[in-house]
Amino acid sequence: MTSHAPEPPQGPVPVTDGPAPAGLVDRFGRVHRDLRISLTDRCNLRCTYCMPAEGLPWLPTPELLTVDELVRVARIATELGITEIRLTGGEPLVRPDVVDVVARLAGLPHAPHLSITTNGLRLAALAQPLADAGLRRVNVSCDTRSPETFQRLTLRNRLDDVLAGITAAQAAGLAPVKVNTVLMRGVNDHEAAGLLRWALDDGLSLRFIEQMPLDPQHGWSRAMMVTRAEIIDHLSRAGYHLTPVPGRGSAPAEEFLVDGGPATVGIVGSVTNPFCDACDRVRLTADGHWRSCLFARGEADLRTLLRDGADDERLADVMRGEVAAKQRGHGIDDPTFEQPDRPMSAIGG
Ligand code: 5AD
Ligand code: SF4
Repeated sequence: MTSHAPEPPQGPVPVTDGPAPAGLVDRFGRVHRDLRISLTDRCNLRCTYCMPAEGLPWLPTPELLTVDELVRVARIATELGITEIRLTGGEPLVRPDVVDVVARLAGLPHAPHLSITTNGLRLAALAQPLADAGLRRVNVSCDTRSPETFQRLTLRNRLDDVLAGITAAQAAGLAPVKVNTVLMRGVNDHEAAGLLRWALDDGLSLRFIEQMPLDPQHGWSRAMMVTRAEIIDHLSRAGYHLTPVPGRGSAPAEEFLVDGGPATVGIVGSVTNPFCDACDRVRLTADGHWRSCLFARGEADLRTLLRDGADDERLADVMRGEVAAKQRGHGIDDPTFEQPDRPMSAIGG
């Protein structure tokens, strides 16, 4: 179960009165509606900020949740108020049964809005079958438009596959396709404005994400992180006029109108402008552990419960309990901050 990181001074006020909530509500009154399911910790790229060149010690297949198991957890989650499910990884499209997973989730009685975050390599082949199975939206990670930088950043020469995947997703009606970009100092930060130009021209919805300390190599440093403020500065100096769109809600990205709109660009200031106060996310790892936060120091082992024959009520209790004890924020700025034991690829982005 979750242990609690020291909490930053600002934020929501704990809720102490009233009956125990039926859904996924935490001590601060945050209602959880968004579930991220990691389908696998494996990946067919090696983004340097995510995993080492040789890969990671992958989870053995028997430790991954089966489709039946993960659909069962998802069904219970929808009964507890989850309305949106995003499939992640690792790279979710390397899981051979991903289309079946989508079809089964789309067929749930309280059918959630279904989306996927992918590196795009297999999207050209899978976009249409996924859309036919009930997928509604796709986020493609793409940090560069330069084949050389792509090779340097991901250790694979596959930029063309990513671009073909984006086109296929648009053709399959999974539009607007979102593109996620992590900028790194001296690597691709000079491409910010060019990436925005591309997104505007091709009808893509671009979001820049501040790099978070989640890499297994523990190579993250604040100095190397390209901040939200720097991204705004880069784009402004390139001649783009950005106007904040009010009403961020629980969305992690702040949206800005570009040159008066209607096109927008998003910036996810995960570190310098965190959205923890409005967070409505919960996560299921590929090996069936239920986490209340990317940065949680603990998690609940649903897989063991599932395989030991726990009934729905028991699973729901554990899921509610873990969310109830969620920490207030990620605490990256706290001197006692510790990276989670699992890297991002094993938790699900
Ligand atoms: N910080 C921010 N984003 C990250 N991603 C992977 N690792 C990190 C990190 N440390 C991004 C990927 C992808 C999504 C799943 O998360 O680039 O867009
Ligand atoms: Fe794979 Fe995503 Fe990690 Fe890149 S960031 S190695 S695409 S899991």
